Amino acid sequence: MIIAKTIEEVRAQVRAWKQEGLTVGLVPTMGYLHEGHASLVDKAVSQCDRVVASDFVNPTQFGPNEDLEAYPRDFDRDCALLEEHGCHMVFYPEVSEMYAPDAATYVEILSDMPKQLCGQTRPIHFRGVCTVVSKLFNIVTPDKAFFGQKDAQQLAIIRRMVRDLSYGIEIVGCPIVREPDGLAKSSRNTYLNPQERQAALVLSQAVRLGQTMVEEGETDARRVVEAMTAHIQAEPLARIDYVSAVDGVTMLPVETIQGSVLVAMAVYIGKTRLIDNFIVEKGE
Ligand code: PAF
Repeated sequence: MIIAKTIEEVRAQVRAWKQEGLTVGLVPTMGYLHEGHASLVDKAVSQCDRVVASDFVNPTQFGPNEDLEAYPRDFDRDCALLEEHGCHMVFYPEVSEMYAPDAATYVEILSDMPKQLCGQTRPIHFRGVCTVVSKLFNIVTPDKAFFGQKDAQQLAIIRRMVRDLSYGIEIVGCPIVREPDGLAKSSRNTYLNPQERQAALVLSQAVRLGQTMVEEGETDARRVVEAMTAHIQAEPLARIDYVSAVDGVTMLPVETIQGSVLVAMAVYIGKTRLIDNFIVEKGE
């Protein structure tokens, strides 16, 4: 696997692949990889001739009091996982390679979409995500890019950005990967102590509860959200940021579970903020 630290190295390699007529897939990550990321690489390898993963903790998507400095990092382990799953190149830039000291250009969706859900408490987050993902698209020029459904709002926002800015890139969403006991895989799970790790199960239990209610015919979004909220509130170590049912495309709140609906949550377990969700596709 090639380790590229500069934009120029990536461009030269991708140019060579494209001259050979090969297709290129991109898996953007912030490193500290787990089986969720591995599933994205597997999907990319199955659909593209060459796969590039980026491994970059992007400072512009972290707010002033968030965990940028503490964000876990282990590049050697990341490389081992990527190589094992057939990734061809990892892009591992320094912050200075990605952002000039006076960088002042951002990509931002100016609708209510990024203000919902995680955007309520992370107001600059999606501007940072859109900016870095745009830059990665410009650097790697992939045919396809692969994102996890766990970050459902991010996935919807990137699809919107790709549409609005006419990137000719296919965005492939990949299912949430869970631990055997249900907890969604996340690099942030590493922050949890054993007691918190146990308490964190309320997220996936709430997902299961909501899914069951919908499967059994509940169409009132408020009732589903209330039941999930009550379940999470019963756990003393959990503090809810939000539990919401929104339109699967616009991310705006819905009252009725009909069409494409995302039921998503962010919950603090101790100091660690975790997210989880499920999607309902319900016909008229
Ligand atoms: O989902 C992530 O890990 C990040 O938000 C992404 C897409 C790699 C951008 O930094």
